[in-house]
Amino acid sequence: MQANIVLLPGDGIGPEVVTEAVRVLEGIASKHGHSFSFTEHLMGGCSIDKYGSSLTEETLAACQAADAVLLGAVGGPKWDDPNAKDRPERGLLALRKGLKVFANLRPVKVHPALMEWSPLKPEILEGVDILVVRELTGGLYFGWPKGREIKDGRERAVDTLEYYDYEIKRVMHLAFKLAKGRKKKVISVDKANVLESSRLWRQIATQIGQEYPDVELEHMLVDTASMRLITGPAEMDVVVTENMFGDILTDEASVLAGSMGMLSSASLGESGPGLYEPIHGSAPDIAGKGIANPVGTILSSAALLRHSLNLEKEAATIESAIDEVITSGARTNDIGGKLSTTQMADEIITRL
Ligand code: IPM
Ligand code: MG
Repeated sequence: MQANIVLLPGDGIGPEVVTEAVRVLEGIASKHGHSFSFTEHLMGGCSIDKYGSSLTEETLAACQAADAVLLGAVGGPKWDDPNAKDRPERGLLALRKGLKVFANLRPVKVHPALMEWSPLKPEILEGVDILVVRELTGGLYFGWPKGREIKDGRERAVDTLEYYDYEIKRVMHLAFKLAKGRKKKVISVDKANVLESSRLWRQIATQIGQEYPDVELEHMLVDTASMRLITGPAEMDVVVTENMFGDILTDEASVLAGSMGMLSSASLGESGPGLYEPIHGSAPDIAGKGIANPVGTILSSAALLRHSLNLEKEAATIESAIDEVITSGARTNDIGGKLSTTQMADEIITRL
């Protein structure tokens, strides 16, 4: 298999973790006789610094033409000025929109050896295996109108939570399909007691659910879901939700896994390249120190092999190597160890 992978290392610890994920992918390629070519582009704050834009047309075009895109992280204090006309995060949103990756898959599993790193009790963490399907190109992040104005002498800001039926349908179908290969339970999260967009969300979830009679559907309000994530996460299977609710719930869910550094994500569309990124941010406080946990990005590269290149066996090889490494006690700083980013990746590579 030949594949053209675009790398967007981004800012902060992004380049450090992407470098390690590439070494893992190269290891897989040489072992299984694949040939992956990697092309690197700037995106985020580094792209603002060099080109004056967080995502240039050239970079977006290169991503659109690739088989898959692997991203590190974007952002940092340097680009945090609220009055700046461009921000690293804007580039990320434009990239998601430009690749039409409407569904963001965020798996949350708890490795038994890392339970002590979660503030939750082990009996609550036992058996947790959740897949959050976050809608990624609509909702509060993209709805129109959006902006600021002076109205009646007062400063006013507005964001809009907007959904079209088709946007909900496609992400729902994906959630139900994925649930069929798992425990066959979908929790659709909304705020239907207050929001009109959530009432449409719930109506469509019910409607699509009827097409999957073997999958159980439960509707849950987002405030309840945030509580259930820490009181009964083991009862959850697939959770599908609006963009911003998903953003918030997945940071909460990462606490179950012991560290944000452990979690991966895959953003998928109807067709075209997928976008793969760890769920953690650019971590400016530890950038350049070589101590970031590369596991989230390496797991994202496994997801890349699975979803974009159809290399299930190779993806599973990486995942079980990571399982073994964690079991063996190898740890980066965030999970109480002393291994560097590169040493942690070395541990994984020797087990491929
Ligand atoms: C995430 C991040 C992004 C988001 C930011 C960096 C724009 O928090 O991927 O969860 O809100 O989607
Ligand atoms: Mg987030």
